[in-house]
Amino acid sequence: FNIQKFQLDLMTWFQREKRDLPWRKDRDPYKIWVSEIMLQQTRVDTVIPYFNRFISRFPTPEALAGADEQEVLKEWEGLGYYSRARNLQSAVKEVVEKYDGNIPDNPAELGRLKGIGPYTKGAILSIAFNQPEPAVDGNVMRVLSRILYVEEDIAKASTKKLFEKLAREVISHDDPSSFNQGLMELGALICTPKNPQCMLCPVQEHCEAFHAGLEQTLPVKSKG
Ligand code: ADE
Repeated sequence: FNIQKFQLDLMTWFQREKRDLPWRKDRDPYKIWVSEIMLQQTRVDTVIPYFNRFISRFPTPEALAGADEQEVLKEWEGLGYYSRARNLQSAVKEVVEKYDGNIPDNPAELGRLKGIGPYTKGAILSIAFNQPEPAVDGNVMRVLSRILYVEEDIAKASTKKLFEKLAREVISHDDPSSFNQGLMELGALICTPKNPQCMLCPVQEHCEAFHAGLEQTLPVKSKG
C-alpha cells in the first residue's frame, strides 16, 4: 500500500472535484464547528440554507453566545435534534468566557466542550487548524473499510477506535484538511453505501475491496 500515492491521488481529486459548499469558503473554526454539528444527523442539501441563515444571524462566537436560546432554536427549527443547538450555544458561551472567543486548537480543551465528541473534535482540528487528527464517522468508516479491507463490525465501539487508529496512520501530514475532507467527499460522491462508483474512483488502484471485487460486501454492519 503506497500511502503517499494514495494521499496524493485523494487530495488531488478533492481539490479538483470538491463541491462548492458554504463552510468551505474559509477556515473559520467557528463556521466549521457549526457546519459539522448540523451535518451530524442532517444531509448536506438540507443543511446549506440553515447554515447560511445561522451564520448570517450569528456570525461569530460572541453573537451566538449573546443570543436568546429561543432565537437560536428558531434558526434550528426543522433541523431536529434540538439538543445539538442547545449544546452548541452552551459550548460557545464557554469559549467566549474562558478563551476570549477563540476556539481551542488542541484536542484536550476542544474535547471537553459540550457536544464535541471525537468526530467533531477531529473535524475542527483537521479542517480548520490543519492538524493531522482523524475525523471518523460512518462515511469515513465505509470508505476506509473498503480501501483497507477491514471486515470488523462497524456497529461496535471498538471498531470505531480501530478506524481512528488506521485513519491516524494514513492521514497526510502535509495537508490534513484536504485529506480528511477528501475522505468525506469520496464517501458522499463515489464510495456510496449502495452501488459505489468504483470506475470513477480516484483511489481505485489503492482499494483492496475493489481488487477483490468485494466493495459491495463492506463495511460489515450487524445492526442499524
Ligand atoms: N459531512 C460531514 N462533514 C462534512 C463536510 N465538512 N463537508 C461535506 N460533508 C460533510
